[in-house]
Amino acid sequence: MRLIVHPGAPLEGSVRPPGDKSITHRAYVLGLVGEGLTVVESPNPGADCGATLACAARLGAACDSFAAGVEARVEIRGCAGDLIEPDRVLECGNSGTTLRLMAGVLAAQPFLAVLSGDESLNRRPVARVIEPLRRMGATLTARDGDRLPPLVVRGGRLNGIRYDLPVASAQVASCVLLAALKAEGETEVTLPGPARDHTERMLRAFGVKVESTARNGSGPRLRLAGPARPRATRLRVPGDFSAAAFFLAAAAATPGGSVTALGVGLNPTRTALLDALVQMGARVEVRALPEAGEEPVGDITVTGPERLLGIELPAEWVPRMIDEIPAWAIAAATAAGRSRLSGAAELRVKESDRLALLAANLGALGIVVRERPDGLEIEGATVAGGAVRTGGDHRIAMAFAVLGTRAAGPIAIDDASSIATSYPGFADALTALGGRMEPAATSAREPASGGRRPTGPASAATSGPATGRGRAS
Ligand code: S3P
Repeated sequence: MRLIVHPGAPLEGSVRPPGDKSITHRAYVLGLVGEGLTVVESPNPGADCGATLACAARLGAACDSFAAGVEARVEIRGCAGDLIEPDRVLECGNSGTTLRLMAGVLAAQPFLAVLSGDESLNRRPVARVIEPLRRMGATLTARDGDRLPPLVVRGGRLNGIRYDLPVASAQVASCVLLAALKAEGETEVTLPGPARDHTERMLRAFGVKVESTARNGSGPRLRLAGPARPRATRLRVPGDFSAAAFFLAAAAATPGGSVTALGVGLNPTRTALLDALVQMGARVEVRALPEAGEEPVGDITVTGPERLLGIELPAEWVPRMIDEIPAWAIAAATAAGRSRLSGAAELRVKESDRLALLAANLGALGIVVRERPDGLEIEGATVAGGAVRTGGDHRIAMAFAVLGTRAAGPIAIDDASSIATSYPGFADALTALGGRMEPAATSAREPASGGRRPTGPASAATSGPATGRGRAS
């Protein structure tokens, strides 16, 4: 689906983003292996979490979905640790989290399972999960010399291990902790840097003891004594900070822009984008709300200054804003002066090579960008209209969609269908904040400034109420 976003008035209003994607995945996975009925309120409605839920059902959990929007909930009756051998390939779609978390679960099951994904996922590394799971006692093989999916897992009896993660990946740490639930003895995982800690928090909500020791200037050391059985619980998923990030960055990038994201997860391992926007000169206000499922939650308002300033992003902030770099980069493109990103080589193995696509797309819109092996140098300037490619990556699509609202001309996005992997209601939310867009006819023509009149949202689904100047009354 091609999408054209037109420049217009500054984004203004409030938005309630969908449930957090990372937290929803974990709730489904722990619901699957847990004992009893897990109730997940306001889960993320995107296709990625749908893939995790479908895998859970295929592995023996009884799963039911109710209603939609903020009232939505999913109920999972778990298998109490003993899953059913799947009779076909487990499809993970575009979702790296599904594949890597499920690998940990399957490593402890006495049967064969195959995990596979779409074209993008089957290009993403799996050696990082194969290595620790083999050491625990599982048998795993993968395509291209054990580097790429499909991933074949023959699980069995596992032993606890001590393992130093080579990358600060929450997916890999979570994979090992999930395997550790059925392993004999203690598992200890050490991370080389900070990473989101949703698995640790949620394991505690499921009654499993996980010890996390902070280490100065480095990532935490995690300990879990196996075997341990998660007990089903009821939890409310906070709004997804990473989904809200696009609107918050767009507000920061526009003098007079002001966007409030309601009920958003404020886990400190995820929120460095706010620190970056403050350092660039934006006004950020956070109002705390009651916690949800062991996670801090609040409303966030970002207001754009007269002049946003380019910054050198401290490399140690990158892990705490790893999924927000596309949003930050569009703010940097509009800021006065140079911005620098380093320590972000991991972005090359996300849903796309995000460093390459950000550089190419910003370049196509008239911004001078120098691509480095582990980062970008962006010379902020007036962003021209033009055409961009998403490489099937939802976060690239959403970043350039919000940039379209404040560029000098329309931005045509070659394929916005990937947005549905995490945020099916994105186009409606952008419209409600005053964004103007149209699903474009598939043609090679580039948009001309002041071209066709926008016809409204490209997607029917909304993730919750959004109010702003664009909302039809
Ligand atoms: C995720 C962890 C991050 C992040 C991804 C979601 C998770 O990946 O980029 O979108 O839910 O654990 P890594 O753990 O590989 O850094």
